Amino acid sequence: MIEYEKLMQEALQAREASYSPYSGFKVGAALLCKNGKIYAGCNIENGAYGPSNCAERTAFFKAVSEGEREFAAIAIVGGGDQLQVCYPCGVCRQVMAEFCSPEFEIICGTEPQQYEKHTLEELLPKAFFLK
Ligand code: THU
Repeated sequence: MIEYEKLMQEALQAREASYSPYSGFKVGAALLCKNGKIYAGCNIENGAYGPSNCAERTAFFKAVSEGEREFAAIAIVGGGDQLQVCYPCGVCRQVMAEFCSPEFEIICGTEPQQYEKHTLEELLPKAFFLK
């Protein structure tokens, strides 16, 4: 059983570390591995813009670099002064497709008990694979 509320709380906490002085848009993500471990991430911007990294990819790259390969779900929260439902960008969806099954759950919300549930297949149909 996935504890969605806990995952949302972890994403909200991760958002606090967002480094986003250029956009003012703070994003937090909490990635749940199938072994129960959670990796948090935030967006990290750069004055040259291009090197900026999304919260989702920060969480994925932290987890993958620690040897994790099996993922169950990710919670994402984002917004400026006010939180809005924040869906993952196309690049992050492609990164998810590299490591996750079509049933991987993507939780997008604004409060611990206020969220939408989507699957990767729903948000990235007909994904590209180099297989
Ligand atoms: N951003 C994320 O971290 N995740 C998303 O799903 C969408 C966008 C970040 C990138 C940039 O730092 C800021 O939000 C505005 O685009």
